[in-house]
Order: sequence, then structure tokens, then C-alpha cells
Amino acid sequence: NAHRIAVIPGDGIGKEVVPEGLRVLDAVGQRFGCAFHFDTFDFASCDYYLEHGQMMPDDWKAQIGGHDAIFFGAVGWPETVPDHVSLWGSLIQFRREFDQYVNLRPVRLMPGVPTPLANRAPGDIDFYVVRENTEGEYSSIGGRIFPGTDREVVVQETVMTRIGVDRVLRYAFDLAQRREKKHLTSATKSNGISITMPYWDERVEAMAPHYPDVRWDKYHIDILTAHFVQHPDWFDVVVASNLFGDILSDLGPACTGTIGIAPAGNINPERHFPSLFEPVHGSAPDIAGKFIANPVGQIWSAALMLDHLGEREAGAAVVRAIEEVLARSEYRTRDLGGTAGTTECGEAIADAVLSG
Ligand code: NAI
Ligand code: MG
Repeated sequence: NAHRIAVIPGDGIGKEVVPEGLRVLDAVGQRFGCAFHFDTFDFASCDYYLEHGQMMPDDWKAQIGGHDAIFFGAVGWPETVPDHVSLWGSLIQFRREFDQYVNLRPVRLMPGVPTPLANRAPGDIDFYVVRENTEGEYSSIGGRIFPGTDREVVVQETVMTRIGVDRVLRYAFDLAQRREKKHLTSATKSNGISITMPYWDERVEAMAPHYPDVRWDKYHIDILTAHFVQHPDWFDVVVASNLFGDILSDLGPACTGTIGIAPAGNINPERHFPSLFEPVHGSAPDIAGKFIANPVGQIWSAALMLDHLGEREAGAAVVRAIEEVLARSEYRTRDLGGTAGTTECGEAIADAVLSG
């Protein structure tokens, strides 16, 4: 029973780094005996839009909804299609229609990657940010009255549902329980936001007794951002609402180096729908076509996908292979100060998986 993967390269360097992710997955197949079936789709790209006047075919859900996961590159080519059209017509549709309510981002300091944080070595920083991805502060409930006058009023509501909060907390506690440190940190702001955030805290307290071996704490979001920079070694799994998680999931990877290596998962844990794995970076039109893009973000996304598919040993092996290759300067791409091309770096990681 092969894992069925929908492959969507998208635009720009997406088309250059996705093949490197597939190369590494092929190596994983050989090394660990897991089988993959890949179907590649040309939609969710600006080329598709230019030809068809829309980002995706009307039956896109039927075409990819039955797959076990989506392996996504990057979408966007602002020269020909405005970003809000390309993004809302593709990625945002996937997240919503496939109920990908967890946004997962590992924060891990890799060897050979310059960090803006002083005195930090690989091993010091290794945690996950779990962001709620469907509700919270990003609701469309609200409005504006008396527009353009002195009496102008603008309101946007935060929505937290018991189901919505509990399911992301459960995911985060489960993840913490599987990890060595078994430590969960909740991001809150219940001193200032006096209705929704105390509710979030209350649900964390209600969930915690189900995970007696997980140690947990909470910080207000303002001081938490400071701790990310000053004490990144304190964290193991950090769970946050949509807005707080959005901020933390950019801050975390920024603390550990370049945008070229950071991965992300948009996850529907129940597997009612496929989850989507993608690098954090976009299509990078400024370097597209030169095959100098760093493929590590895409390859690390493949590792997250393997974890999600239950191939945890293989996922860990891919992360180890990335670390092994980044530690050697000859395979680093230009964004890391090296001279290697996209393919050289990808081949080295695939080789490391095979021989690891
Ligand atoms: P970007 O992430 O594409 O590029 C930002 C900068 O980082 C550029 O200088 C680029 O050369 C560099 N960079 C990015 N990935 C790299 C890699 N793998 N190796 C080496 N350098 C890398 O963000 P930007 O320029 O704001 O957006 C370009 C397009 O990508 C836009 O259309 C935007 O909407 C789209 N985008 C799509 C995303 C997605 O598909 N999830 C996420 C972010 C942006
Ligand atoms: Mg963001």
C-alpha cells in the first residue's frame, strides 16, 4: 500500500526545489522500503492561470482530495498574476477546504546555518510551533460603519470554538508527549484580552490532565517573543492561536537562520483530507531559472510529510541527512555562503539518506 502523494510544483523555484524533494523521497523508498505513488499536477500555478483564467480547475478537489498528502512547492509570479489572486485561488483554498487546522513549523538550529542569536550551537534550539490555522483572530466577522467620517468605527471579532481550540491543543499535547522533553508552552495574553484568551487558558488547563506526563507552562505573547530570542532552549512544543502562532512561526525560523531551509505543514490530523507540506519561502522570482535556490526547505518539508504519514524513522533520517550535508561546506547553496547549486545539494542529501 503505497502513500499517494499529489505533487504541485507551482511557480518559480518551486519547480526547481520540488524535484529535489522527490529525489530524497526516492532515496527514502529505497532505504526504508516505503512505497510512494506520485501524481504531479500543473495547476495552482500562474502558468495555469494564464492559460485557463483561473488558478485551478473546477474539479480540483476531486483530483487531489483522495491523496494522502500534498507536496507543494511555491505559488506566485507577481509579474503576470497579482499575488492575492494566485494565493487565494490556490493555497488558501487548500487550507480551508481540506480543514488543515494545524500549521506546524519546526524550529531547529542546523549546523552551517548562520544564526542571528549569539552563542547558540546546533542542539540548543529544537522545538515546534503549533499554530491554530482556521479560526481565532482571523475571522471575517466584523464591519465598518460611517466610513470616511470622523465617526468611523471598525470591528473585527475573534472567534474561538471549543472544538476548534481543543483540537489544536490535543494535537500539540500529543506531539509533546511523543517528544523527549515532553514540554508544552501555551501562548496567551489573558491579562489584556479578557474574554477569548482566558478561555484559551481554561481549555489548556482542561486538556492538561489527559497528558499527565507532559509538563506545561504559559507565557503572555509579548514576553514569549522575547524568550524566543533570549532563551530558545526553553522550548519544546509551543501552541498558539492563529495570530500569535503566525507571529511565532516566522520569528522562530528567523532565529535559526535562512528562509531557504524552513519547512511547514498544513495539517488535517484526522486525515479526513490531505495535509499539505511546503517550504516557508515563496517562488523567489529574483533567482528563479538559475538553479541556485536552496532545496533544504522543500526537503525538510518532505521529512514533515513522512512524519505525518507515519514514517517517523524515515522522517528522522531525512533531517539527519540534511544536518550531515549542511555541516559540510561544499554542498551549501549561495544563501548559506556556499557555491553549490540546487541539484548538487539535493543529490548530496539523497546520498546521505541512502548511506545513513
Ligand atoms: P520569497 O520567499 O519568494 O523570496 C524572498 C527572498 O528570499 C528572495 O530574495 C529570494 O531569492 C530568497 N529566497 C527564497 N527562497 C529561497 C531559497 N530556497 N533559496 C535561496 N533564496 C531564497 O518571497 P517574496 O519575494 O516575497 O515572494 C515571491 C512570490 O512568492 C510572491 O508571488 C509571493 O506571493 C509568493 N509566496 C508564496 C508563498 C507560498 O507559496 N507559500 C509564500 C511566500 C511568498
Ligand atoms: Mg506569516
